[in-house]
Amino acid sequence: KRVAILVSGRGSNMAALIDAAAEPDYPAEIVAVISNRPGAGALAVAARAGVPTSIIDHKAFASREAFDVALDAELSRIAPDVVCFAGFMRLLTPGFIDRWEGRMLNIHPALLPSFKGLDTHARALAAGVKLHGCTVHLVTAEMDAGPIIAQAAVPVLDGDDESSLAARVLAAEHLLYPRALAMWARGTARLEDGRVRFGPEP
Ligand code: GRF
Repeated sequence: KRVAILVSGRGSNMAALIDAAAEPDYPAEIVAVISNRPGAGALAVAARAGVPTSIIDHKAFASREAFDVALDAELSRIAPDVVCFAGFMRLLTPGFIDRWEGRMLNIHPALLPSFKGLDTHARALAAGVKLHGCTVHLVTAEMDAGPIIAQAAVPVLDGDDESSLAARVLAAEHLLYPRALAMWARGTARLEDGRVRFGPEP
């Protein structure tokens, strides 16, 4: 399967996907990385790994719709089977979601449906939860609410602060995302009646 990765920042999840896809039996190939931020550290990491990159700077567009049209055009040119969001910090318009729904995966740094949105680690600490983690899910029109493919939990320890908890979750993200993408690309995880189910390869 051909995979494009959308990024906005440092790109450690992107790097985990690129590294996994370099393994001989991995069922997906990372064919492109697209950033909406020209300064994203992810761009240099991808380039060093030999993955073609492009920049679609959201600041260069007058509206969300105009940005999404440009992103859609670039993705249509690349023609990926799967689009992985990896720290991609943009909400997309319904028109864009309609065109790519069922092909977009995201990783969220919390155990959904808890702590949708931003600042998940601070909010988990404030809530006093004892388990926290990350979720790979399909992207739908409602933010962080699409069908869940896979989750990984980590303990919240006494003495954790936002950065120690974020680091523990991030390490889990780097293991989870490549595994979830592999299941999705192989078809051993697939959408049935609005939920992700697991079964043998089709
Ligand atoms: C990750 O924690 C991801 O779950 C969240 O933003 C962070 C991105 O980190 N959406 P990176 O760019 O993958 O290093």
